[in-house]
Amino acid sequence: MSATVDVRKSLAARPLTPKLGAELSGVSLAEEISDEFFRGIYDAFLRYQVLLFPPQDVPPGRQVAFARHFGEVQIHIMNQYHADGFPELYRLSNLDENGKPNGRHPDKGTLEWHTDGSWSRVTGQATIIYGEVMPETGGETHFCDMYGAYERLSPAWKARIATLRAVHNLDFSRTRRHGEDPMTAEQRAARPPVDQPVVRTHPETGRKCIYLGDHAEYIVGMPYDEGRALIEELNALAVHPDLTYEHRWKAGELLVWDNRCVMHRATPYDPATQRRVIRRCTVLGEVPA
Ligand SMILES: [Fe+2]
Repeated sequence: MSATVDVRKSLAARPLTPKLGAELSGVSLAEEISDEFFRGIYDAFLRYQVLLFPPQDVPPGRQVAFARHFGEVQIHIMNQYHADGFPELYRLSNLDENGKPNGRHPDKGTLEWHTDGSWSRVTGQATIIYGEVMPETGGETHFCDMYGAYERLSPAWKARIATLRAVHNLDFSRTRRHGEDPMTAEQRAARPPVDQPVVRTHPETGRKCIYLGDHAEYIVGMPYDEGRALIEELNALAVHPDLTYEHRWKAGELLVWDNRCVMHRATPYDPATQRRVIRRCTVLGEVPA
């Protein structure tokens, strides 16, 4: 049985940008974490939106155990990505069975700004990614603050979108962005499109944020093309360089972020020459309001 982390050990947060993100040191994720110690981590998660844990060995089972502190862990519908015997973990890798780059990007949909699980009625709360192998160039993960994005909208924009709902559709975003490895009829039936508010109130902080991203297809009650144009415009308006954190990975790092108030994307890398392997899991949150 592993030792429990002593809550009296210091939990130090080093902000990564003035607005968004913090690195937490003093946490050994390979050990069991007490509920009291986790409370400190969770408070930092709500405050900083993105948490970075420095390089350490986090075996798959420990990653899932850490995720369970946040809540129920999603079993992703795209079951071809399940990893290490844990259906909660989703591995994205460009390596062949000999560990060589295979030239194929495993999920090009991650290259566009999005929020995990927005295509599900109950959406993603935390996403937790462990970097097993990281490329020398590219393959970064970027985050942008959706509280700040909402606050910077003009009064006219805020009024325009206050009550709008967008339909999010995983099949739409996958098909539109790359069309590779399409969802099966069974996967599609299990994940029908769902409508979500465009302006969401974070259930724990009470702050409003823009809730949109690349899975959003159209606006309820609006002609399709008009809704598409609004979504594209607002997705672009929502990203501000000074409200963005760009993470260049080191192998062994673990990142956690709050999908309810940040969008994220991966940057490209050359899958023919670079190696990149991550394991991801997403914790289920709630129905957005
Ligand atoms: Fe994602």
